[in-house]
Amino acid sequence: MSAQNKIAVVTGSNRGLGYAISRKLSQIGNKVILTSRNQTDGLAAKEQLSSEGLTVDYHALDVTSDASVQQFTDWLRETYGKVDILVNNAGVNPATKPEESSLLTVQLETMRSTFETNVLAVLRITQALIPLMKVHNYGRIVNVSTEMASLTSIPNDYYPLAPSYRLSKIGVNGLTVLLAKELQSDNILVNAYSPGWMKTDMGGDNAPFTAEEGAETAVYLATLPDGGAQGRFFAEMRKFGGPVQVQW
Ligand SMILES: NC(=O)c1ccc[n+]([C@@H]2O[C@H](COP(=O)([O-])OP(=O)(O)OC[C@H]3O[C@@H](n4cnc5c(N)ncnc54)[C@H](OP(=O)(O)O)[C@@H]3O)[C@@H](O)[C@H]2O)c1
Repeated sequence: MSAQNKIAVVTGSNRGLGYAISRKLSQIGNKVILTSRNQTDGLAAKEQLSSEGLTVDYHALDVTSDASVQQFTDWLRETYGKVDILVNNAGVNPATKPEESSLLTVQLETMRSTFETNVLAVLRITQALIPLMKVHNYGRIVNVSTEMASLTSIPNDYYPLAPSYRLSKIGVNGLTVLLAKELQSDNILVNAYSPGWMKTDMGGDNAPFTAEEGAETAVYLATLPDGGAQGRFFAEMRKFGGPVQVQW
């Protein structure tokens, strides 16, 4: 199947990494469906990409809302009848909250709201869209994680403790492995990756890399050939000049 026929959904694509991934996937010929919880922001992103000569579609999508996911899925089924690529990018990081400096002080409510967006919402939209992949025996699911969620690296890494963020992304990693196991006889490849520290609203101005650089691995995983990586965790390709796996 050529990229021309492929329908790619990117969650939280009105800004930051999601926007950069959408632009790259569109530039190589995929039909990208931009999504955002705020319609004005999403339509502005669509307008910007259109002004660059890219043809993208748009639909509102709040991944934490059952009703929004249902409406989006119904629209997608009626409009396109299938989906090929799902990039689970939308995420939150409450790192600036003082209680996030320790697992001894983190508020359960912060933990709950972070898990709601970063884990349960990934499961919600993934459950909704997999039938639209199974219908044509093709799918690529890319879960945006972080190397801060590498259990192997945590004891010696230098990142902020950020307990709710880290634990939520560990949840995303677990979801990736379990889903890949469940889909191992389908042509639906599920992988996670760390985009690295990027200059986005979440990453801040001091980050060393751009969202465009962080998007590279997402595009690699979204366009894997049949029989490609399944249930793996990748680093940002920029750092290594090619796809390299991170230890869970
Ligand atoms: N920046 C980094 O250095 C870094 C490093 C590692 C991993 N990541 C991961 O990369 C992903 C993107 O991060 P970013 O840096 O681009 O962050 P960002 O600039 O803060 O953008 C986050 C995006 O997620 C969307 N979002 C949040 N909650 C949503 C919801 N309920 N429904 C739909 N969309 C929602 C936001 O929409 P609104 O505009 O409506 O808020 C926004 O589009 C996240 O999963 C993050 O954890 C980032």
